[in-house]
Amino acid sequence: MSKLWSGRFAKSGAKILDEFNASLPFDKKLYEEDIKGSIAHATMLAKQGILNQREADQITEGLLAIKKEIEDEKFIFDIAHEDIHMSVETRLIELIGEAGKKLHTARSRNDQVAVDFRQYVQKHTLVIVLLLEDLMNVLVSISKEHTTTLLPGMTHLQHAQPINFAFHLLAYVSMFKRDIERLESSYQRNNVLPLGCAALAGTPHNIDREYVAKLLGFDSVSVNCLDTVSDRDFALEILFNISTIMMHISRFAEELILWSSYEFKFVTLSDEYSTGSSIMPQKKNPDVPELLRGKTGRVNGNLISLLTVLKGLPLAYNKDMQEDKEGVFDSVETVYMSLNILKEAVRTMSINTDNMYSAAQVGHLSATDLADYLVQKCDIPFREAHFITGRAVAHAESLGVDLSTLSAQALQKVDARIGEDVGIYLSLEHSMNARNSQGGTATESTCKQLEIFENWLKSRH
Ligand code: ARG
Repeated sequence: MSKLWSGRFAKSGAKILDEFNASLPFDKKLYEEDIKGSIAHATMLAKQGILNQREADQITEGLLAIKKEIEDEKFIFDIAHEDIHMSVETRLIELIGEAGKKLHTARSRNDQVAVDFRQYVQKHTLVIVLLLEDLMNVLVSISKEHTTTLLPGMTHLQHAQPINFAFHLLAYVSMFKRDIERLESSYQRNNVLPLGCAALAGTPHNIDREYVAKLLGFDSVSVNCLDTVSDRDFALEILFNISTIMMHISRFAEELILWSSYEFKFVTLSDEYSTGSSIMPQKKNPDVPELLRGKTGRVNGNLISLLTVLKGLPLAYNKDMQEDKEGVFDSVETVYMSLNILKEAVRTMSINTDNMYSAAQVGHLSATDLADYLVQKCDIPFREAHFITGRAVAHAESLGVDLSTLSAQALQKVDARIGEDVGIYLSLEHSMNARNSQGGTATESTCKQLEIFENWLKSRH
């Protein structure tokens, strides 16, 4: 079969080259964007008098027929056509003849692939935003039930201070909100039309790029053609955005794994989102969060791969850039699946508030409160208060009890300035609610945070 570019070649290429050179097996995913871009291009060519209207109509009809063939799985993908662009064009010429040969006027595959891929990235950026909103809504509605549910807040995975469960979940809601903002800012920055740059230097044809931008829903037209056909920043941005989302998902997944272990038992994953062991009949494994954590590795790899592919390329297009697509497709599909499954796993898990509460009874979570008490009530400098509290903790340890259970008398033995009223300050509820500074864990403060996120989510629709 002769190639669309075979003019200057005497011999046809080696068979193995077809396979090595082709992107068709993966870039056929871009058929819709390719056809949309081509219809917009042909429409513009007719408006500018570069094609006549009849030719443009034939092209549009032919392209729509090809779209239907692909969707009905009747289209024959032949690797000899290299990529989706030439597969569609070859079929168009087969279907409509002469007019089909005019479609590529004032265009190159370099700006064609750039517009196809950019449309793909833009479209999926918006879908990821919707999936993040769904997940945030689930987290917010669980949070509403748990603004007074105590659990140990941790640093270094060691008990630190009592917090409530809603406050913990809202930390993830904050992360996902930033993820959405990052995706939206990428969307805006990249909503720029690459088509019309041709191979690298523009075209002598009297094209109207603004018109094409309007037809395809881009806000503006790229400024410098040499940059445009070389630029894959938009692909890097979605890869980075997805990596960051997956990193957030992965940290949450890690907590779900810990929380569902016998040692914590803070949550129980539903049977629907757990798996068994082939040998140990008693086991219920957290495969879902483990896979979420694991897939993050591959997604990060996709970002690093594309950065590495691009780092040494001279301007403008180089075939290396064909390696830009598979990682993006993979990351997009992975984050779709991950956001959906995390949402369901969280929605269906049970939350064992009693176990959270018991866990908060150990580890002297209100030690900071004793230090704060000494500062506020006894006018002791914080550093000294910290030392006295350390002695009180050591005393509690020697008795094998939690600091919060020590009586005022016992504490007064450590420091006589401690008052009779110290007990209430050391209770977990008091400790949590004392942290009512802006953004703090107190129930009142947590409720304010909840309201902020709820309003933000509502304001978007
Ligand atoms: N299949 C190619 C890619 O994905 C399309 C662009 C080819 N351009 C070229 N000058 N060979 O990058």
